[in-house]
Amino acid sequence: MAGSAALIAPFAWGDQLPRLSGGRIALRPIDDADAAGLLAIFGDPEVVRHWSRPPLSNLVAAATLVDEIQEGFLRRHAFHWGIVDAASSELIGTCMLGSLTFRHRRAEVGYILRRDRWGQGLASEALAVLFGFCFDKLGLHRLEADVDPDNQRSLRLLERLGFQREGRLRERWNTYGTPRDGIFLGLLRSEWRRAGPT
Ligand SMILES: CC(C)(COP(=O)(O)OP(=O)(O)OC[C@H]1O[C@@H](n2cnc3c(N)ncnc32)[C@H](O)[C@@H]1OP(=O)(O)O)[C@@H](O)C(=O)NCCC(=O)NCCS
Repeated sequence: MAGSAALIAPFAWGDQLPRLSGGRIALRPIDDADAAGLLAIFGDPEVVRHWSRPPLSNLVAAATLVDEIQEGFLRRHAFHWGIVDAASSELIGTCMLGSLTFRHRRAEVGYILRRDRWGQGLASEALAVLFGFCFDKLGLHRLEADVDPDNQRSLRLLERLGFQREGRLRERWNTYGTPRDGIFLGLLRSEWRRAGPT
């Protein structure tokens, strides 16, 4: 019984998210100096095509995103890591956990990569590291994702890592004024394929 109690005890986050690493990438907390890096990612209309917010237009908007990310962590509401190139330490993307509940041992995942780093397997490596943390350190049993049906890259990424499609939620999102369905996917700890470098 003591073992199961330990598993459901909330993770002690401390002042900031833990740094995680594996393969060609590392995951680290987002800080104030990351506004320009986030602008290069979230300012690209192609990258945020399936997002429910317009692309960031300038550094002020990017600094506001940094504030939102930090506020999300302080409230233990959303947990965003920066994805950095392990060789250069350059910020190349972000990944996050939302709707985290230790009671039900699940969370929703989100991720984004700067466009010039697509097609290199880096998002797969970042998520493999994140999932290892979720299943091994947080003791989660289930991860979820909700993807636009046209977002083929994202669907391929998740399915390569073992996610299964569980349903289609009709007109779940309002994306740039258009109702969009969401493909709901889930990954169980018991079926997680350790496809990444961890
Ligand atoms: C979703 C997203 C992160 C996927 O990025 P990605 O680079 O395609 O994903 P991966 O890291 O898994 O890379 C896989 C691709 O790299 C290729 N690749 C090249 N070298 C590789 C290597 N060493 N290892 C693995 N794959 C490699 C694979 O063949 C694959 O290409 P393919 O999809 O054309 O077959 C990216 O498209 C993105 O940021 N999109 C915008 C944000 C977004 O939509 N987020 C999700 C919201 S639900």
